[in-house]
Amino acid sequence: MRVHEPLQHPEADNRLSELTLLYQFSKTMLSTIRLNKLTHLILTAITTPSSNLFERAILFMRNEKSNVLQGMLGVTRQLSEGLQIVGGRDALGSRWDISDEIISRQRSAEFCLQVRLTRIEIDTACPMIHQIVSERSVCHSDDDVCRKCQTCHFVGHLCTGSFAAAPLVARETAIGVIVVDNPDSGREISNDNLHFLQLFANQAGMAIENSMLYNRIEDAHLNLRDARERLLHGERLAAIGEMAANLAHELKNPLITIGGFAGRLLKSLPAETRERRYADTIVSEVGRLEKMLAEILAFSRKPTICFTSCDLEEIIRDCLSSCAATFEDHNIKISFSSESPPWMVSGDAHQLKQVFLNLILNSCDAMPEGGELALTLEKVSSGKKTVIVSIEDTGGGIPKEMLPQIFKPFFTTKHHGTGLGLAIANRIILNHFGSIEACNKERGVVFTIMLPLLE
Ligand SMILES: Nc1ncnc2c1ncn2[C@@H]1O[C@H](COP(=O)(O)OP(=O)(O)O)[C@@H](O)[C@H]1O
Ligand SMILES: [Mg+2]
Repeated sequence: MRVHEPLQHPEADNRLSELTLLYQFSKTMLSTIRLNKLTHLILTAITTPSSNLFERAILFMRNEKSNVLQGMLGVTRQLSEGLQIVGGRDALGSRWDISDEIISRQRSAEFCLQVRLTRIEIDTACPMIHQIVSERSVCHSDDDVCRKCQTCHFVGHLCTGSFAAAPLVARETAIGVIVVDNPDSGREISNDNLHFLQLFANQAGMAIENSMLYNRIEDAHLNLRDARERLLHGERLAAIGEMAANLAHELKNPLITIGGFAGRLLKSLPAETRERRYADTIVSEVGRLEKMLAEILAFSRKPTICFTSCDLEEIIRDCLSSCAATFEDHNIKISFSSESPPWMVSGDAHQLKQVFLNLILNSCDAMPEGGELALTLEKVSSGKKTVIVSIEDTGGGIPKEMLPQIFKPFFTTKHHGTGLGLAIANRIILNHFGSIEACNKERGVVFTIMLPLLE
């Protein structure tokens, strides 16, 4: 192993063609932004027959967090033919390009696949790797010891004969390494070649860094555009929401009037007549619309909470008695267990009642043929004083893919649903510094609400 020292007396002709090549490389790299294409161009440029530099090249990129060199790409001379010259008429005016077809052929070649499976842990690697990465110097190895070395078995696997490696430097750190060798001809790597590799790797390092920065800027730009669109969408939704709330408010009063008169008509009409059936339909449909409007208004209203100390058990018993008729109609058996009362919480009793009513009525909807509804109040066993209310039904549960959606506003699977019940419940519970979640059990779904208890 020896560290390359700059040449003292380069020949003028060689220098000129070297400089021309470098100029062409730099033009090529500066005009290529996409990282993937850039890495293919870099390796193809130093292995292509026309540049006659090396027969194979490997690119490792360094992951600074894990301090690992990860094999990214390997290109052999057979697959580097087809580099196209585009742009100006002479060497100085033109740059190189590569087709997508060659890129995909290079990527799927066996050699490249082997390279991509190669990782070198820098911390435990041999002194040569340390020298390349830490001291950022080009290294050349032609001894057998290196090939038998266990720490970088990539050399034994991938390289034959002598090889050279140069760091890709950007911001004064090695961001990667290029390894080159000549396995077909077995040709020695000359000092001139090493010198060129160093110059080339410096340019390649900067080009890769630029491309990565460009990609990051592009990602940031896309994120910004998404955020702006979400904001605009949010504003539009807010406007629609305000309109819906106004509409609901305007509709509420005439609806109450219609419902009231239809109720009076219903009472005055003789049973079993067609007119009475019509009035009956009007009354029940008006009831449904009123409920819907109430939910829309509750959802769109700015939440104001009147915090008082209230007894959760009392609120739940209140809800159960309001729903007694529904339970009877649906043939639903209720069980309620309250471990160690009282369950005092700081909250708005009216809003908390709305939460439990929404959950209980959802369970009733899920059990049209009857079933069991179990409500439990219990304390969290450890930590802060918290009450857990669980409401479990036997309505068959919620399909797994729907579970993440149910608390979103307007998500409903019901013909006449608003999809607002759980969104409102969620908001109320969050405003009470609690949490609400749903999960499926064997026979149905269980909603679990946690609320902080008053000391
Ligand atoms: N206990 C339950 N069992 C089965 N599905 C439920 C239950 N509770 C809620 N869901 C599902 O969640 C959806 C949203 O409920 P919700 O927000 O109250 O709106 P809505 O009742 O108007 O549909 C329901 O349409 C239903 O699909
Ligand atoms: Mg509901």
